[in-house]
Amino acid sequence: MPSNSNFSQLNDADSFKEVYQEANRFIAGGVVSLNRKVHPHIIFKNGKGSRIYDINDKAYIDYHSAFAAHLLGHNNSEINEAVIAALNDNHSLIGSGTNQMEIKLAEMMCRLIPSLELIQITNTGSEGTAHAIRLSRAYTNKEHIILMIGGYNGWHNDVAREVMPLLAKLGPRKSADEYQFRPSSAGIPKSVMENVHCVNFNDLASVEYVMKKYPVACVLVEPVMQNIGVILPNPGYLQGLVDLCEQYGSVCIFDEVKTGFRSALGGYQHIAGVKPHLSVFGKAIANGYPLGVIGGKKEIMELFDTDDPTKRVLIAGTYNAHPFNVSAAIATLQILERPEVYHHLEAMSSLLSSGLENLFQEKGIPAVTNRNGSASCTYFLENKPQDLHDILNHHDFAFDLKYRKALIAEGIYLMPIACKQSSVSYAHSPDDIYRTLEANKKVLNAL
Ligand SMILES: Cc1ncc(COP(=O)(O)O)c(C=O)c1O
Repeated sequence: MPSNSNFSQLNDADSFKEVYQEANRFIAGGVVSLNRKVHPHIIFKNGKGSRIYDINDKAYIDYHSAFAAHLLGHNNSEINEAVIAALNDNHSLIGSGTNQMEIKLAEMMCRLIPSLELIQITNTGSEGTAHAIRLSRAYTNKEHIILMIGGYNGWHNDVAREVMPLLAKLGPRKSADEYQFRPSSAGIPKSVMENVHCVNFNDLASVEYVMKKYPVACVLVEPVMQNIGVILPNPGYLQGLVDLCEQYGSVCIFDEVKTGFRSALGGYQHIAGVKPHLSVFGKAIANGYPLGVIGGKKEIMELFDTDDPTKRVLIAGTYNAHPFNVSAAIATLQILERPEVYHHLEAMSSLLSSGLENLFQEKGIPAVTNRNGSASCTYFLENKPQDLHDILNHHDFAFDLKYRKALIAEGIYLMPIACKQSSVSYAHSPDDIYRTLEANKKVLNAL
């Protein structure tokens, strides 16, 4: 892409460092999301299709995808046109009353995802999970919640825990049991943490153990654990969670912020054939524009507007359902409704993961590539991991990081953090995948 960066004068070997130093003069920490504090700290400029470009105009085939937001690739022209059309039609944020575009998005979501009887629209996934927890507490009149170790559900107090703690701190796997809430942020009141119970993924006995001990408002689960790579649910596990919630009077919430739309229009719940009580979507839903959706059972969602003030749950937000984001989401869903899109995503993702599997086998490197549609992750261990402990006990973290950094040097951008998901987009071509496999071959020969 042509360079039109303000930093074009810094196109030398130290340019990243200089820009980062400049950032640190004005931005606390030099990044606007702590999750972006990585090494190498490349300063990216723009992106198109499957590629992102740094300020020195080096191109990278992008598998980070801004933590999985760009399902259709960067700067998809149809989505850009939809947003530009909204601008040209003077779709300003009126912020007063109902808007017809938000109705259209809501109708599409309820049609595409059968568990959604009513929805609400936010700007982020974190807002969605915060609302889902609050709704479940209001609905059940209970305060305790169950989360998964190794999960990420946003940055707010109830859920901000360490995603990948050290095994020495976490301790060995416990079941049926729970783990201490290990906050990932200072400033979370103890009283909040006391109500949060963290258990193993794929472990129904531990969920029931907590439910027997405490009044549990909800279980919040990523149906596929996609913040520690890609950890798939065992057969029956997700339905088991819904059943336990029904037995103990709790709400089962699927956090589909990362899984949603990666393998099917109906979310991972469609693949699993399970109907959660509430769901939260984000990221891919608007292909990089900020939008979240929370939705589910009518009798729970109606608490957003009940006449009973003791039950009413506040939904508010100046920018909720901003017309540019809503138009991006509608355009994204319309594109995803074309059958060839999921066909291509599946073809590219399986080409990549089978190619990687063959390469690692040839090289005699113990590796397992797990996949949920267009999301995948290679773990350097012998057996398919089923939860966080399998990763902490067996994954070769040092090799993973070296491997990622070597690929980045070859122009293949994987997040330089061990066990982060790789995301293939609709813009990835067979040529991109072959180039990626070639780069892998080169890197594995050298490591
Ligand atoms: C599963 C999951 N839930 C919630 C969130 C929070 O979404 P957001 O960053 O849009 O607030 C994330 C973000 O990475 C996520 O992966």
